[in-house]
Amino acid sequence: MITNWLNTLFEQELDVKVTVIPSNRPDLCDFQIDEAFKLAKELHKSPFEIANEIVEKIKKIDSIDDLLTSIEVVNGFINIKISDSFINRVIKVMNNTPKYNIKEDNKKVIMDYGGPNVAKPLHVGHLRSAIIGESIKRILRYKGNEVIADVHLGDYGLQIGEVIYAIQHDGIKDEDITLDYLNEAYPRMSGICKENEDIKHECEEITKKMQEGDPEYNRLCDIICDISINDIKGIYKDLDVSFDIWESERSAYNYIKDVENIVTEKGLLYESQGAMVIDVAEESDTKEIPPMIFKKSNGAYLYGTTDMATIYDRENKYHPDNILYITDDRQSMHFTQVFRASLKSGITDAVLEHKGYGTVNGPDGKPFKTRAGNAPSLRDMLNETKEIFISKKEENKDMSEEDLNKIVNSIIKFADLQNNLVNDYIFDINKFSNTAGKTGPYMQYTVLRLKKILDQEGCPNDLSSNIYNEVDRNLRLKLLALPSAFDKAYESRMPSYIVDYIYDLANEANNFYQTNHIAGLEDEQKKNDWLYVLNLTVNVLTDMLKLIGIEIPSYM
Ligand code: ARG
Repeated sequence: MITNWLNTLFEQELDVKVTVIPSNRPDLCDFQIDEAFKLAKELHKSPFEIANEIVEKIKKIDSIDDLLTSIEVVNGFINIKISDSFINRVIKVMNNTPKYNIKEDNKKVIMDYGGPNVAKPLHVGHLRSAIIGESIKRILRYKGNEVIADVHLGDYGLQIGEVIYAIQHDGIKDEDITLDYLNEAYPRMSGICKENEDIKHECEEITKKMQEGDPEYNRLCDIICDISINDIKGIYKDLDVSFDIWESERSAYNYIKDVENIVTEKGLLYESQGAMVIDVAEESDTKEIPPMIFKKSNGAYLYGTTDMATIYDRENKYHPDNILYITDDRQSMHFTQVFRASLKSGITDAVLEHKGYGTVNGPDGKPFKTRAGNAPSLRDMLNETKEIFISKKEENKDMSEEDLNKIVNSIIKFADLQNNLVNDYIFDINKFSNTAGKTGPYMQYTVLRLKKILDQEGCPNDLSSNIYNEVDRNLRLKLLALPSAFDKAYESRMPSYIVDYIYDLANEANNFYQTNHIAGLEDEQKKNDWLYVLNLTVNVLTDMLKLIGIEIPSYM
């Protein structure tokens, strides 16, 4: 925020363009300007000379002495220290402006995340899509954008054909199709189909007939979907993840013919080894991008086709500026093909974005497993996390379900979202459920601890121009760094920038807490100012934690 402020001022007052950035030597200065080196080449002068000229001009700006306590040239760099009264002025603006003075944007964005597959238990991989997507949605909305979240269910694929096959061969009546039955039937069938080509072929035939509209298969698909979606909704509720629309692969079938007509008319569709495909390679490609298969040789449509039809539908219904997908990074080739085919065929002019994520691994570096063994469902993972947290301390046993749920969420989300999305990461339940270190519970604990002081001492609504010591100053400067950290997360669609910010701010706040004791302070002005700063800190931490899906429990 300070940097924006100074940059605008310097833009008005100087004839060269300079950019104020946070200092990389906080022991020497708060901010720095490095432009002299770049300008030196352009202007054929030494960086030292140019830096001095800039500094002389800045010093002449009206009332600059109120803003800066020092500005000097060191080895061609310009080092700036800002005044306490300036810090406090901006702190007040931040405190009194909605959303801490983060500038708004106003795009319409469709987000496609979650992507669970009906009839299959949700597995750990789907966890990432849900929590990353939910966080990015909240960040986009906080920035003022309109976001429509679509869960895009996988409800019309081979897994449904396999379960229908099982229902028919097991002789199961409609009323006996239950969640337990689905949880047993799907893994059984998928095992069988891996070994028996004939049965697999039969399941594929069922799937194809269903997709072509066979009424009995569609009726069974409805029953399967109802049961499975109900279960999925329960898990999303516990994860505090929500969607505005529940469209799906199945709904996309309504628009496939329209899209097929468009790509045919445009001459984009051609035959290759019996299948109908669309070329998507571009000259600038550095690796091979194979054509997108639109229709298989047996006439069946594929994942890419339903995704194109979905884009077509979204464009017609919502006219979005952007469509943003959150899936496993292994789908990035799929999205490259779908995006190129969609833009080429003109069914949309939205900006199409895909954010891929890596795998959740266990402490052994292999894909995460619960103690129970292989391929854990998301439910198992949530339950195990809760158990381990409860076992950490005797008092944890007495926590309410609601508080426990908030903590389980914070353990899992903070562990996940602190990573660069595309990397795999190690989920070590023991480490991430600690109330110390870079963990969710530590952040929640920090907020509760600060809140307690405010509850006891009150929160004032005015701030003087003083700052009382180095720790105090560092906390205030960290608060002022919020808008730029937020914007980094927003622009890159990377919640990890917010996680890092929360972690740094919590650390500054804990330093403050340990050094500056408020209770019993005699200096009323100081007490007032510190409570003001702590109150802002608590609000910022709480709001930023919300953006990554973490709520504060009632006690810890
Ligand atoms: N159901 C898919 C999966 O489990 C994810 C769907 C993502 N969204 C999309 N429009 N393709 O991998």
